[in-house]
Amino acid sequence: MKVPVDLGRRAYDVSLGAGVRHELAALIQERAPRAREAVVITSASLRAQPWFDVETGLEQHVIEVPDGESAKSWSTLERVSEELATCRLSRHDVIVGVGGGAITDLAGFVAGIYLRGVGVVHVPTSLVGQVDAAIGGKTAVNLRAGKNLVGAIHQPLGVLCDSEVLATLSERDRLGGLAEVAKCWLLEDRRASDLASASLEDLILLAVRLKAGIVMMDETEIGQRALLNYGHTLGHALEILALERGRDELRHGEAVAIGLGFAVRLAHAMGRVGALEVANHDEVLSTLGLSWRLGGGDSIDSLVRAMAHDKKAHHDLTFVLPGAAGFEVVHHVPDGLVREVLEKFRGE
Ligand SMILES: NC(=O)c1ccc[n+]([C@@H]2O[C@H](COP(=O)([O-])OP(=O)(O)OC[C@H]3O[C@@H](n4cnc5c(N)ncnc54)[C@H](O)[C@@H]3O)[C@@H](O)[C@H]2O)c1
Repeated sequence: MKVPVDLGRRAYDVSLGAGVRHELAALIQERAPRAREAVVITSASLRAQPWFDVETGLEQHVIEVPDGESAKSWSTLERVSEELATCRLSRHDVIVGVGGGAITDLAGFVAGIYLRGVGVVHVPTSLVGQVDAAIGGKTAVNLRAGKNLVGAIHQPLGVLCDSEVLATLSERDRLGGLAEVAKCWLLEDRRASDLASASLEDLILLAVRLKAGIVMMDETEIGQRALLNYGHTLGHALEILALERGRDELRHGEAVAIGLGFAVRLAHAMGRVGALEVANHDEVLSTLGLSWRLGGGDSIDSLVRAMAHDKKAHHDLTFVLPGAAGFEVVHHVPDGLVREVLEKFRGE
């Protein structure tokens, strides 16, 4: 199964299915026919997985980076760039990112800036990577001041989403990916009752099609692409506050699930949707095994402050919200209303 991301000269396909990682060498040959060397960026723990049999068909080097967000650090970026130079990677050669969203974000960014741009192929190995991070060309590393603050848009030559590699994913990382899937299901205005007949492959395909379609309409996020931030205003705030306390307390997906539960309640309080839509959101989230309950760890004040400082919020309370005209970005949501809905939500 292939989903096209038609961006003119930068068009590529996202291939999905069991075993598609074995198409890597053929993809590189087709999209980078002059390549002689390939550098695979991955982690030691992923390299030890039973499915790790990456074959580029070229002279192959492997650069290992840490798992998780540490891959997206300035120091890792510098080390990887130096290692690419040591491998004498040329502009015709390719980089292959094999890993979760953190590794494909790093691999995509270094590919975007090394020699002012070399080709990159992503083999996303996490659910978040397959349904979101590896598609659309957004790449970045983190700064101490915040996540993804230095980055670029660098579209890959292709993305291979192999369902076989997901078998080794931890339950927490699987659920994290399902939160992004829930977001897509809801953005597509689907009912919870239809989830029962959908396989994981169907859900991945739905999410990939949605993301590819939105990226084709709005590659650089001047409009429609912002809708993919549904559930992320409160989600990011919860994530930032959790990160300040301790790294592993709350994952991105867990925060997004709560953010989705809150966003629909806010839309309901603003008269944009009825109670049935709130119930549908809750049922979608719980059917996928996601908890949307807001714990008591953060004060309402700190949540509101963090939401107003979100880098996509432009210093006011901005949410993607459903409504009669579909989903839209709503700016200047009154502070008092946000607090009131948060209080009620916490009490549920
Ligand atoms: N570029 C984008 O458009 C975009 C979109 C969404 C998220 N992101 C970024 O993606 C990152 C989150 O991605 P993530 O949730 O994949 O986290 P991650 O990359 O940190 O991976 C989570 C953990 O899962 C492990 N893992 C990955 N695949 C595995 C497998 N098949 N088997 C066993 N373990 C595996 C990783 O080693 C890691 O320990 C964040 O940095 C986020 O900013 C980017």
